[in-house]
Amino acid sequence: MSSRNNLIDGRAIAQQIHLETSARVSALAKRGIQPGLVFIRVGEDPASQVYVGMKEKKCAELGIRSVTQVLPGSTSQSELVGMIDSFNADPQWHGILVQAPLPRHIDPATIYSRVAPSKDVDGFHPLNVGRLMLGDPTGFTPCTPGGVHELLIRSKVQLEGAEVVVLGRGNIVGKPMAALLVQKGRNANCTVTLCHSATRDIPTHCRRADIVIAAMGVPAFLKADMIRPGAVVIDVGVNRIPDPTARGGSRLVGDVDFAEVQPKAGLITPNPGGVGPMTIAMLLANTVRAAE
Ligand code: GUN
Repeated sequence: MSSRNNLIDGRAIAQQIHLETSARVSALAKRGIQPGLVFIRVGEDPASQVYVGMKEKKCAELGIRSVTQVLPGSTSQSELVGMIDSFNADPQWHGILVQAPLPRHIDPATIYSRVAPSKDVDGFHPLNVGRLMLGDPTGFTPCTPGGVHELLIRSKVQLEGAEVVVLGRGNIVGKPMAALLVQKGRNANCTVTLCHSATRDIPTHCRRADIVIAAMGVPAFLKADMIRPGAVVIDVGVNRIPDPTARGGSRLVGDVDFAEVQPKAGLITPNPGGVGPMTIAMLLANTVRAAE
């Protein structure tokens, strides 16, 4: 059964978006504009180093100029604010991304509201969060929920009227994901249930869903007995768990117990190779839009 191909190929769909983005980069070049994206990384979080490295590499492939500012973990909030202000004022940079997580002494809300809304390719500024909530398409959509939305649309998943369960209420994925899917209009119009740590009976909610989006950060949380046969399952989780048999003593697992759930699902994202590549594709698309 597990050989049944019900996989949503995030790498292939991301590649399609990269082709579209690349054409837009060429059109901008004819106008003498090269999109520019600044990454700011504070401290030495190993996962953040890997993520920013992958994003930089894709920028280079697509002809987007990028620079990474690495600040020590001891950087003060006011120093970081000062750096954001200087990039806000510099017209050669169209996008600014401050990689999360930030050190504990820095308040993320202060930082994300400091990035100019017109350069906020992460979609974390309160103005862009508000636009998303209002269904105003002029804002920037956060990259991970935006990527999940594109995966569903391009996989021709029926969204209008669909029952969707989002697991996790984080500001980066769960909340904006719910906001995207409840909007009135084509490619949305879902009935969304947002489950979280205080939800009384998560399995009962999940079993009613046509689409389950797991983004709560609990390794292999979603089991086969929690989904309806044929449900569409999207795994946003990236969890590092100890594994003495793995190289380095640990490995990455999603929020979905893939081996169990895949045979029962209608469509499912592999992890890795599902949502991850889409996040990068949406970031670069947002950057090009900022430049346009
Ligand atoms: N850390 C994990 N995901 C993200 C993201 O989408 N943007 C930023 N800036 N940091 C992250």
